[in-house]
Amino acid sequence: MAERTIVIIKPDGVKRGESVVRQIKQRYLEAGMRIIQEIDLQLDRHQIREFYKEHEGRSFFEDLVSAMTIGPCLVLVIEGEEAVEKVRAINGATDPAKAAPGTIRYDFRDAESGGPRNIVHGSNSSIAASREFLILVE
Ligand code: CMP
Repeated sequence: MAERTIVIIKPDGVKRGESVVRQIKQRYLEAGMRIIQEIDLQLDRHQIREFYKEHEGRSFFEDLVSAMTIGPCLVLVIEGEEAVEKVRAINGATDPAKAAPGTIRYDFRDAESGGPRNIVHGSNSSIAASREFLILVE
């Protein structure tokens, strides 16, 4: 069934320039999914606290809020068959050091990657994607 999911190319990713952003988007397109909306956003701390509410109180939370608000990010609304799971597989494990080669988080890791500093976020369900879209965009 076709479904929608949200990817955020995080500020650390956007900062690396057009070529990296284009290569990341290409991974999703090559897997047969469509990018139906692209939104450049400067997120504020309040939005990100709400977005990552489930992680509030964790040791990495404040670093995560800072990393997500340090500059503009690019939100992608992606649609396709099993898009949530496909995007999660393409993104790879949360920690870039544990992600498999060939995944975005591994292939585009840098010296600062790890902890909260992975390069992309992907929704973990289509319900989460709807909630995330509302927080980011409305
Ligand atoms: P993301 O997919 O955006 O969803 C939650 C984010 O919190 C995650 O990517 C990481 O950036 C960060 N994160 C999640 N778990 C951990 C952890 N155990 N240690 C450090 N950062 C984490």
